[in-house]
Amino acid sequence: MERISVWLNRNSLYIALLAAWIAMCGSLYFSEVRGYVPCVLCWYQRILMYPLTGVIAIGLLRRDRNLPYYVLPFSLLGLGVSTYHYLLEKTDLFAGSSFCAQGVSCTTQWINWFGFVTIPFLALTAFLIISLMSVIALLNGQPEAVNEEGDPLRTPWLPVSGVIVVVLAVFTALFIAGEQDPQVAAAQQSPFATLAVTPGPQVRVDGTISDPATLTRGEQLYLQSCAACHGLDGQGVANLGNQLRGSEFFAASTDAELLAVIRQGRELTDPANTTGLVMPPSGGRPDLSDEDILAVIAYLRTPQ
Ligand code: HEC
Repeated sequence: MERISVWLNRNSLYIALLAAWIAMCGSLYFSEVRGYVPCVLCWYQRILMYPLTGVIAIGLLRRDRNLPYYVLPFSLLGLGVSTYHYLLEKTDLFAGSSFCAQGVSCTTQWINWFGFVTIPFLALTAFLIISLMSVIALLNGQPEAVNEEGDPLRTPWLPVSGVIVVVLAVFTALFIAGEQDPQVAAAQQSPFATLAVTPGPQVRVDGTISDPATLTRGEQLYLQSCAACHGLDGQGVANLGNQLRGSEFFAASTDAELLAVIRQGRELTDPANTTGLVMPPSGGRPDLSDEDILAVIAYLRTPQ
């Protein structure tokens, strides 16, 4: 226990450095390789996180005792933003929030590992680690500039560059593994390619006639969860989502097929992906029930 605490006191800022680099590379991996679109709140968190990768590294290299004071304002603000973002995703506490009225919705959950780990949750964890480690460094007067005898310590080039190089190497491997097949990439040029590509010889609509209450519920849920990418009228939004209402794909699919497609979403690597844009699983709303999604489908089947 004693040993662990001594080790932690000495290395807390290296742990903070590691967390900041993993957070930055991870967020770039999600947006640049996986194609997940960052929302407005994501950008605020990036603004607060990315500078820390440089600030912590330089502070450590210069053995600047004040380093935690430079880091904490960013990491604590970031902790606030990601906590707010996570609550927005997972609770109704801020249901009336006007954040992300434009572009991709802040409540779209691109990932939902184990039912609770979303991207803001990962950011929250990183900001929390960085804040805690900075407080530990602050209490222990780290980084130290002189040793016990009062001699100046050497510049820690090796550990600082070691952390950065290891994180970069891991993520470069992920970036290369995620590189798209050039042929697939070419086929995905047009965001509205779906229309031209999807064959729909026989029209297979379920023909269920929905009651007005279902349609109203479907409309509400559609506007909350899908409209940011697929347009208020279901006609699509350039570079975010394609046409749904009245599309051949919609007409040619049964409700059950559409439900399965929506539940699964479409990663860039999905052979069915035609636009080169990502559809998050369940439209980024893992909390929607099958009935909810069927109501959205019923609503989209009504002509506008
Ligand atoms: C973050 C943006 C985004 C959100 C939110 C979103 N979608 Fe999508 N959706 C897409 C993209 C992009 C595609 C096209 C993917 C592709 O190339 O196949 C798509 C494809 C689809 C398709 C297949 C259409 C076709 O022609 O291939 C259906 C159905 C669909 N979405 C329904 C929904 C529903 C219902 C919701 C709300 C619950 C929703 N989407 C939310 C981005 C989104």
